[in-house]
Amino acid sequence: MRYLTFALGKGRLAQKTLELFEQIGITCEEMKDKDSRKLIFVNEEQKLKFFLSKGPDVPTYVEYGAADIGIVGKDTIMEEGRKLFEVMDLGFGKCRMCVCGPKSAKELLAHNQLIRVATKYPVIAKDYFYNKKHQTVEIIKLNGSIELAPIVGLSEVIVDIVETGSTLKENGLEVLEEICPLSARMVVNQVSMKMEYERISRIIHDLKEVIK
Ligand code: PRP
Repeated sequence: MRYLTFALGKGRLAQKTLELFEQIGITCEEMKDKDSRKLIFVNEEQKLKFFLSKGPDVPTYVEYGAADIGIVGKDTIMEEGRKLFEVMDLGFGKCRMCVCGPKSAKELLAHNQLIRVATKYPVIAKDYFYNKKHQTVEIIKLNGSIELAPIVGLSEVIVDIVETGSTLKENGLEVLEEICPLSARMVVNQVSMKMEYERISRIIHDLKEVIK
């Protein structure tokens, strides 16, 4: 039996993913050691391997087959646009992709003004404004702390993830428009899905039973 390899996005989702996997008997003791600098973890008995990578790299590893299965946010799947199968919604990591800004920016959105949009998600922002709203905007790519942009005058609005809404609130911003709901998803390499169909569909089946 060959190894099935899982790529997990570092951070919030990884911990939840491991907890969920434990419930279906997939474990990786090695990975629980927080001080470990190891990059790849093996469960010899179950012939499984796990590695952590930056979220946006997960779809890349899966498309190229370096990982058979990936766990990643829907936002990353949409932004990266990789060739892979999105097989299930894991039901955690729920949040929303939104257009946010100060209340005063509502007018600019309503009147199709040429505005600047700061975001970590230029593909999603472009698709939303160009294809859905038919509004021409200038998209400015940032790498984090997106809420800063309208505060310091870099942009009129932002496209960003809203979970609890507290980052917006504490910075005098609000949700102006909702683009789509998000959550953690399981993605599978297209060839692995065929070659390892039985093992992978068993995992999907077991996860669905637990999530129900
Ligand atoms: C995300 C997102 C928002 C915040 C939303 O940022 O970009 O800033 O979380 O969460 P809330 O609605 O619960 O306040 P993250 O913490 O991932 O860091 P980043 O700013 O570096 O992207």
